[in-house]
Amino acid sequence: RITPIVLAGGTGTRLWPMSRSSRPKQFLTLAGEHSLFQDTLLRLASDPRYGAPIIVTNEDYRFVVAEQASELGLPLADIVLEPVARNTAPAILAAVLVAAKDQPDAIVHVLPSDHKIGIDTAYVTALDQAEAAAKAGSLVTFGIAPTEPATGFGYIEAGEDTKSGARAVVRFVEKPDAERAQQMIDAGSYFWNSGMFVFASDVFISECEALTPELASAVGSAVDKATKDLDFLRLNGESFAQAPNISVDYAIFEKTKRAAVVPAAIEWSDLGSWDAVWKSRARDQNDNLEIGPVTLNAISGSLVISEKHHVVVDGLDDVAVLASEDAIYVGRLSSAQSVGDMVKRLKADP
Ligand code: GDD
Ligand code: MG
Repeated sequence: RITPIVLAGGTGTRLWPMSRSSRPKQFLTLAGEHSLFQDTLLRLASDPRYGAPIIVTNEDYRFVVAEQASELGLPLADIVLEPVARNTAPAILAAVLVAAKDQPDAIVHVLPSDHKIGIDTAYVTALDQAEAAAKAGSLVTFGIAPTEPATGFGYIEAGEDTKSGARAVVRFVEKPDAERAQQMIDAGSYFWNSGMFVFASDVFISECEALTPELASAVGSAVDKATKDLDFLRLNGESFAQAPNISVDYAIFEKTKRAAVVPAAIEWSDLGSWDAVWKSRARDQNDNLEIGPVTLNAISGSLVISEKHHVVVDGLDDVAVLASEDAIYVGRLSSAQSVGDMVKRLKADP
């Protein structure tokens, strides 16, 4: 069976003010019954090809992870705790080393906890192809057909078919600038990186050792010296702090020659920004999405969410109004990507 590795340690700044470092977006119930993290666990539990997931998260989120999993009554394999945030490359390697303890060539599926994904026939086929290519030694990503020159994604140029049915990766470009993104859209041979990866643990570990030895040694010793505490596996703080702060896309996927891509026509969206949340949900006839105690008049193409106060919006288009219990954001929905930059400013100069 495939071991899922769920990344649940990001802070999700672009969904401020609902997403806070004390309770980031993957744990929020924006609308509906479950959080995005819980939706991820339910999706994995519904597919018999998966075993119990390994969760990797920051120390600060250990209780919310344990509580949200137990609310669903779903078993977890391990909850791996990072003492400090070092981005996805160290987090993934730590979880893969844990998976490899039981079975050195375990096939793992690394996935984010903040995506909306449907398990449909396209998903079933794509995962089978990815598993076969992973068994043949590839580091597999899923390729999503791009719809716009987005700058927040990795881009993958797909080449020849490999023996196992996946396509070789000619080039992997993480988060291009707008001009480069447009060129890749025009070229037509590129996919977006879905941010999900399937590979054999031993292959990934040896690629880390070859491409970024400082990552491999820091995380290797953090796992060797990890301590078990209730349901949690706490990585050694001193060792983990030595790991470079880098995402897996830059550390491994831009560099490796073993990358392969499975083009997948799956239902997929990264709910990383407010415009993506708006796009992913059913809207009213004026293209508005409203959640909570909200009244709208002469509004179109807008997102209005309130957690507590009654919010009334009148005569505007393309606005995002996000009212949490203690902070309010008002901006253009179409430039919702800049919320992350605003949050950086707030942190620098509160
Ligand atoms: N455990 C842990 N620790 N998880 C983390 C950390 C960390 O330090 N940092 C981020 N994560 C989690 C996030 O919560 C998210 O679920 C996932 O890892 C990916 O991180 P993001 O910060 O959301 O990455 P991104 O969206 O900017 O870019 C990635 O995903 C895109 C698709 O959604 C890249 O893989 C891109 O290439 C890709 O296109
Ligand atoms: Mg993301």
